[in-house]
Amino acid sequence: MSIWHQRWNANQIGFHRLEANPVLSEQWPKLSLPSDAKVLVPLCGKSLDLHWFHQQGHTVVGIEMVQKAINQFFEDASSVPTIKEMKDAKKYSLGKIHLYHADFFDAEPDEAQFDAWYDRAAMVALPSSMRPDYVKQLLNLTTRTSKGLMVTFDYPQEEMQGPPYALPDSEIEALFSEHFHIERLQVTDLTHEDGRDLTRCTTSVFLLARK
Ligand SMILES: C[S@@+](CC[C@H](N)C(=O)[O-])C[C@H]1O[C@@H](n2cnc3c(N)ncnc32)[C@H](O)[C@@H]1O
Repeated sequence: MSIWHQRWNANQIGFHRLEANPVLSEQWPKLSLPSDAKVLVPLCGKSLDLHWFHQQGHTVVGIEMVQKAINQFFEDASSVPTIKEMKDAKKYSLGKIHLYHADFFDAEPDEAQFDAWYDRAAMVALPSSMRPDYVKQLLNLTTRTSKGLMVTFDYPQEEMQGPPYALPDSEIEALFSEHFHIERLQVTDLTHEDGRDLTRCTTSVFLLARK
């Protein structure tokens, strides 16, 4: 059983927020997307950010491998989705919100390719060894003019075992610079607020636009 199945089973989901991420209302408009743009949310959990995208008029697609997270997303919204069986996935739809119960690395959502993507606690949920494949799959699933908003987390990796795993600027540069313009929109120092006893801890928001 994966660490994520264990965490969901034990309700260890401290990453889940009870409201949409304020970063979205502050920073998403900078992507200058039409409201009918299709948005991909990899490793989405049961994030309320999916509803936020839907409220903006977007078609939004989340990909999540733990069934319990998907069930809770719809239960929390007191909604019953329609369900479609696919080859290696199950698709849950409610209006223009679609959640795929699938492994992100081999997901083939009907709505691809996407105009935009949003990563909050997705890349940092993966160890460094898996990140090149994550970026490859992002490139597969998005258009050549796509843009992304990515929320990262950085700290001295030796001071804590992930997840979340540290995502330093040097690794962002190495992973994305070939295909994306990288712009940091925001950085916040969490060193004294995070409660994890780290000597340094920051969260940043990046805008990534395809070259
Ligand atoms: C730290 S949580 C973040 C969830 C969500 N983005 C949020 O902000 O609340 C990471 C999520 O990714 C899911 N996950 C991990 N690896 C995955 C994979 N390969 N494919 C799909 N989902 C995955 C986990 O089950 C977990 O719900």
